[in-house]
Amino acid sequence: MRLPAALRPIRRVSQIRMYTDEPVPDEVVRALLELARWTGSSRNAQPWRFIVVRDPQTLRKLAALRPNITWLAEAPLGVAIVLEVEHAYDEGRVTERLLTGATMLGYGGGVAWFGDPEQERAAKRILGVPDTLAAHQIVMIGRPRSRDDPRPTGPRRGRRPLEELVSYERLGATKGR
Ligand SMILES: Cc1cc2nc3c(=O)[nH]c(=O)nc-3n(C[C@H](O)[C@H](O)[C@H](O)COP(=O)(O)O)c2cc1C
Repeated sequence: MRLPAALRPIRRVSQIRMYTDEPVPDEVVRALLELARWTGSSRNAQPWRFIVVRDPQTLRKLAALRPNITWLAEAPLGVAIVLEVEHAYDEGRVTERLLTGATMLGYGGGVAWFGDPEQERAAKRILGVPDTLAAHQIVMIGRPRSRDDPRPTGPRRGRRPLEELVSYERLGATKGR
């Protein structure tokens, strides 16, 4: 199906792992943070804090945490998400806003997940986050250079067809007419 024009920018949101060297201007970062700030959260707790990371040395250290995220070292900027209260739903929502906002402004975004608890602890040390707070990921932002996945064994792109995903009235039931 061809999406209505208003929805197409959201549909274009995709994991970007290769960026140009072009810096992301402060006003773009500010706009994305402002957008993220207005994300809804459970009981309006707004459990997130954001760390804007531009220092290439810090990015290189984070990238070295695990092979699946080495690509982040080439990105001009990342926004690490710190949580006062663990809430996967809230974290997912605020992440998607950053990715969507970046795409709508002509940039791209990519999630880099720190990994297992030990790798998370290492990431928190790098970012100055105390053990009392959670940090699982950094959302990279920049001008896309390519949509390709530089990793040798990344997941396939594409999505399951709607017919596989949607039922009507009862799970597994197709539309009568
Ligand atoms: C919770 C979560 C963790 C992810 N972690 C990583 C990661 O560590 N490295 C990476 O390259 N992509 C990571 N991704 C990105 C996914 O691989 C990507 O969203 C998925 O393959 C779909 O990509 P597409 O929208 O470009 O098709 C993560 C995504 C989510 C939602």
